[in-house]
Amino acid sequence: MSALSYQSGFGNEFASEALAGALPEGRNSPQRVAHGLYAEQLSGTAFTAPRHANRRSWLYRIRPAAGHEPFALQPRTAFHNDFDDVATTPNTLRWDPLPLPTAPTDFIEGLTTFAGNGGAAAQSGIGIHLYAANRSMQNRFFYDADGELLIVPQLGRLRLATEFGVLEIEPQEIAVIPRGVRFRVELLDGTARGYVAENFGALLRLPDLGPIGSNGLANPRDFLAPVAAYEDIDGDIELLAKFQGRLWSAKTDHSPLDVVAWHGNYVPYKYDLRRFNTIGSISYDHPDPSIFLVLHSPSDMPGTSNMDFVIFPPRWLVAENTFRPPWFHRNIASEFMGLIHGAYDAKAGGFVPGGASLHNSMTAHGPDAASFEKASAADTSRPDHVVDTMAFMFETRAVIRPTRQALESPQWQHDYYRCWQGLTKHFRHPQN
Ligand SMILES: [Fe+2]
Repeated sequence: MSALSYQSGFGNEFASEALAGALPEGRNSPQRVAHGLYAEQLSGTAFTAPRHANRRSWLYRIRPAAGHEPFALQPRTAFHNDFDDVATTPNTLRWDPLPLPTAPTDFIEGLTTFAGNGGAAAQSGIGIHLYAANRSMQNRFFYDADGELLIVPQLGRLRLATEFGVLEIEPQEIAVIPRGVRFRVELLDGTARGYVAENFGALLRLPDLGPIGSNGLANPRDFLAPVAAYEDIDGDIELLAKFQGRLWSAKTDHSPLDVVAWHGNYVPYKYDLRRFNTIGSISYDHPDPSIFLVLHSPSDMPGTSNMDFVIFPPRWLVAENTFRPPWFHRNIASEFMGLIHGAYDAKAGGFVPGGASLHNSMTAHGPDAASFEKASAADTSRPDHVVDTMAFMFETRAVIRPTRQALESPQWQHDYYRCWQGLTKHFRHPQN
């Protein structure tokens, strides 16, 4: 990766200026800002949100964000929040990776909505989108007023040029772009594919650690925010907005990435999943998968999430006399899973990097027959080193509803259910 500068921490009060003296001292909105800049506040939480949850930033920019023509509604695309078009199936679902496009397709054009629940109007739930793209956004910028975007690349590096500065991410890293923040996605490797969770609910945060203590899982200092970097570019520019599930387009005459300095705690950030401190059993059994929680969007019900982002990284398995892969289970939670890298230890085949699966509330699932046989016969006096893997889950308390286009996709694996058909009866009545 290139040597971009970042600021380390999660939810910190960051400050950055690309021009010396641009950040006002002692005031957020002085009568006149240095260098002829405008002051503008961007609030990501209610003004009255408790201090620990309150997120806002002050931007010092060449022109205020309001400087554009009216938005016009765009024709429907594959990127939307229409989760009610078809009856939601309780069946397990799995998809092959999206093919890379042949026609020129940028990040926004390459988004296909696969599933979701809730919506922007209710400020709860998530949209789940997959992207496949082959060109950078050109003279075109986007913001999502409906939710923050958790971007999970599987193929190709992305350069995210935002109002706050630049984030570069590669597969096995993630980025979060807060609701409302304007940005452009450039492809550093020509093509790109991955996953996006659009979080309509409370902002993603680090989970509490309880008895784990003050360290572990994702550590705050491994989260990186950009430093201020601005564009002073005039031209025919499109500003694309996602608002209440639809895309809207406005013309403007300059780059919206004209923020010369900023301070605050409402910022885009990135995180390297390989930094995750993975915790597991060192005796027997294994804990619930909540120990793999990276980021958490709480719901109104204490202890339950609007959305959890969970990963299954490389790790040692040492539990004795224990079935070591993820076991058979049915959960109240609903699980949309993707594979970023390598193989997943509960499936012998069919789930490949870039693919996806959906196991909804109370839908039975678990290891396939081949994985069950292998794990049942394993010598658990020896450790297993699970390497070359990085799977993740968008997990929600509400059922995740696949879209019509996901169910009609040629990537849908009609025969996925068969992976559990080989689980034969081993039970024998004891003989007298
Ligand atoms: Fe599961």
